[in-house]
Amino acid sequence: MKAPVKGPALTPLERIIVPLDVPGQHEAIALIDALPEVAFWKVGLELFVSSGPAVLTALKERGKRIFLDLKLHDIPNTMAGACRAAGGYGVDLLTVHATAGEAALAAAQAGAAEGALAAGCEPPRVIAVTLLTSIGLESLSAELKVTMPVIDYAQHMAVLAKDSGLGGAVCSPHEAAILKAACGKDFWLVCPGVRPVWAQKGDQQRAMTPGNAVSAGADYLVIGRPITQADDPKRAIARICEEMTS
Ligand code: C5P
Repeated sequence: MKAPVKGPALTPLERIIVPLDVPGQHEAIALIDALPEVAFWKVGLELFVSSGPAVLTALKERGKRIFLDLKLHDIPNTMAGACRAAGGYGVDLLTVHATAGEAALAAAQAGAAEGALAAGCEPPRVIAVTLLTSIGLESLSAELKVTMPVIDYAQHMAVLAKDSGLGGAVCSPHEAAILKAACGKDFWLVCPGVRPVWAQKGDQQRAMTPGNAVSAGADYLVIGRPITQADDPKRAIARICEEMTS
């Protein structure tokens, strides 16, 4: 069997991204301050639409890394403009939909770099959403009229993203080994759908444990409820880190 392709060397704690799945800035800051050991936070659409960039400022003030999960999807000119603005916030990761196409993806990465340069910060790594996990084989063929299997489609979209200059993708840990082999170690894979053995699966149907996800090629793990809903979130983080090292 071929050895899995590995991405950046990171400690278990560095691999964990906790989503700020809360309705507003007040709740977000309470969560960030309750878990100072978490270095990387995800700001998604709900929080960004409700709070705007103020939550990003709060994270930057605390020296945190930011995954701005806006899943942008538009024509090249608009993508460039939105990514220019996002790049200026000094975020680390920014999502766009790969289905926006090559020109829009290239414009997104260029815009993000321009925005960061103008603001004097590091450019974000723009990463692609290959296919929403809410779209299964049936919706893919019946609604989107794509007849290839989900994994082949996800791989095709990841390769398109890479060829368009993007630096990674969001994917299921079940797709990580295939996407890593297809796109290489420098194409970062960020995986939600991660559940330690002791946690409830919730609505994540095809979850994988943190250790197995990393072994499969996941670089970063987006882990929400197993941490945020745990009786002892700090202990949950420690157990997840132990599991990754064992
Ligand atoms: O609580 P849980 O660990 O399921 O949180 C996972 C996070 O990753 C949530 O913010 C969810 O919206 C996000 N996500 C996901 N599946 C995807 C893309 C994003 O669970 N395919």
